[in-house]
Amino acid sequence: MEKIILTGDRPTGRLHLGHYVGSLRRRIELQNSGEFDKIFIMIADAQALTDNADNPEKVRQNIIQVALDYLSAGLDPSKVNIFIQSMVPQLTELTFYYMNLVTVQRLQRNPTVKQEIKMRGFSESEDGSDNKAGTPVGFFCYPISQAADITAFKATTVPVGEDQEPMIEQCREIVRKFNSVYGPTLVEPEILLPDNAACLRLPGTDGKAKMSKSLGNCIYLSDSEEEVVRKVKGMFTDPGHLQVSDPGKVEGNPVFTYLDAFCRPEHFERYASCFVGKKSSFEFHSLDEAKAQYRAGGLGDMMLKNFLAAILNETLEPMRQRRAELEKDLPAVWEILRKGTQAAEAVAAQTLDDVRKSMRINYFDDSELTGLK
Ligand code: TRP
Repeated sequence: MEKIILTGDRPTGRLHLGHYVGSLRRRIELQNSGEFDKIFIMIADAQALTDNADNPEKVRQNIIQVALDYLSAGLDPSKVNIFIQSMVPQLTELTFYYMNLVTVQRLQRNPTVKQEIKMRGFSESEDGSDNKAGTPVGFFCYPISQAADITAFKATTVPVGEDQEPMIEQCREIVRKFNSVYGPTLVEPEILLPDNAACLRLPGTDGKAKMSKSLGNCIYLSDSEEEVVRKVKGMFTDPGHLQVSDPGKVEGNPVFTYLDAFCRPEHFERYASCFVGKKSSFEFHSLDEAKAQYRAGGLGDMMLKNFLAAILNETLEPMRQRRAELEKDLPAVWEILRKGTQAAEAVAAQTLDDVRKSMRINYFDDSELTGLK
């Protein structure tokens, strides 16, 4: 069986470090591993519209931003197929058929949807009196549309963050249900989670559980060097760590979580003794050593933050340079999306044919039914 990847992001803003460690960095490794026959990366504009129906302009503007983030992070259009979801209409048709295989009750139990409904304030009033209150039906159903995205490409592997686990489980149920009712047609995908615990969910710079645009606690892949330094300096740490000499907490300290996600042994070689404070300098050979010193007292937040900012800027600098190059010729980026979308549509159309055949709703191809030649 072919090994096929499908994954994607909602274009509601530029991509940030949470996206990078949670998924994007892995995609680039997978792309370069040569282990996959096909890789589809989708800009999920239709899904973004499920809770932005009144702001399509935001979604529209962010399509190119996400594409620039992808390409500057290292996705290579000669190896992966980047496409725009709403330009592949077969996905919508598949969604409509799959809707009959899922119950409202099952969707209501999806923990990610539940949490998102709460976060967006959709559940505040259910009497329909307030236009803003209530859950848009399209939003409620997006796990089904996500199953269409995955199955349309017969994806075997879906690399995503932990919050997407319930979506993949729901997709697998739809596949099993479809295949048992209509005969074997669809492929059941596997989720591929980040392998480093810190990457499962990168906290915001404010220490809140997740980086999120609406909370203003993100570091974006396209942030300038100065912005990164400013944001890292303002990061939440251990509020009980007042003096350098005080013992500090490592667990739940976002600076350490970021270091867990980004720091590699060579960073210690490169930056050891670069940062010199009044009472100490940064002389560690491993993150474990730095953590032990922080716990014991004697490692200051500022020094630690300088180290983190240097690592982040080192990681982001090549992306900034590629972005600046790509921004000089945006039509070329749109052309990558157009080509990718055409190729994606051809694959999705084939799956839709298979689906209609299995469901026996391909009436005009069925001469036994119609007597047509
Ligand atoms: N839900 C994903 C996100 O929030 C985007 C997405 C849409 C997706 N369809 C998908 C991810 C299919 C993986 C597979 O970013």
